[in-house]
Amino acid sequence: MSSANHLLEALEPVVAENLDRHLGMAQEWHPHDYVPWSEGRDFAFLGGEDWAPEQSRLSETAKAAMITNLLTEDNLPSYHREIATRFGRDGAWGTWVGRWTAEENRHGIAMRDYLVVTRGVDPVELERARMDYMTSGYDSGDKTPLEAVTYVSFQELATRVSHRNTGKVTHDPVADRMLARISKDENLHMVFYRNIVAAALEIAPDETMRAIADEVIGFEMPGATMAGFRRNSMIIAKAGIYDLRLHHDDVIMPILRHWDVFDRTDLGEVGERARDELATFLEGLDTQASRFVERRAEHRARVAARADSDGTPDIAS
Ligand SMILES: [Fe+2]
Ligand SMILES: [Fe+2]
Repeated sequence: MSSANHLLEALEPVVAENLDRHLGMAQEWHPHDYVPWSEGRDFAFLGGEDWAPEQSRLSETAKAAMITNLLTEDNLPSYHREIATRFGRDGAWGTWVGRWTAEENRHGIAMRDYLVVTRGVDPVELERARMDYMTSGYDSGDKTPLEAVTYVSFQELATRVSHRNTGKVTHDPVADRMLARISKDENLHMVFYRNIVAAALEIAPDETMRAIADEVIGFEMPGATMAGFRRNSMIIAKAGIYDLRLHHDDVIMPILRHWDVFDRTDLGEVGERARDELATFLEGLDTQASRFVERRAEHRARVAARADSDGTPDIAS
């Protein structure tokens, strides 16, 4: 039996315990409750009117963030495959895979219903982007189960931050409440995975520290392969919805602290080396994050000064 399978088996009781914890904490909620159906009307196909840009009350920033987040949620079949092939379909691992998938699915349902009913974005463009992104799918490469569970610890928290801050830029209390509700799911997912990795650190400290270093250093959002991702992620970073500062301060560091990464005394040579590499990487990330925030502040100041001098209102978010 491979060491990956040994570790999965050793973690099974922890998975069972955290599955119970999750089911105890998770509250039932329904996507339809979060959608303002009274705003809906037919499109031309049924005798109504097709979408036009002026119908949307969302800013370009809110649109870019909502589309990126929704398309990311849409690729759920790929993520299901990612975790099902690594965690398996048996026992507590298998139950988690099913439950997690069902919970994730309602994120895309709620967001799409909201955007279509409120005419927030072009539904034709949205559907074409979904077809395109889902057809190419998502593939994380040859991650081991341990690497996958480490990656998703960070990824779930990143998604939580991103949904939460997207809610704020919509300036729509309905969207804000929906995205806050989705964020709560993402947070519980993060807690589940984070607890599994914490247990893995106890069982196999060196191997787990290596996985942590690799996943932090190579971290990429699953949406990175979608069309327009670079442009949209720049808009998202400029608006402070998700940027390097948030990535470092609110995603990576809290989880590393929870795992007690920098104060552990149980590492061997492999683990020590991984931790050193991680520390060096984090210093660089912190510097990059500070530079980005400085440049953004300068840019915002320039835009504000220009708006002041020519009397046009500042609409940049
Ligand atoms: Fe989600
Ligand atoms: Fe999630």
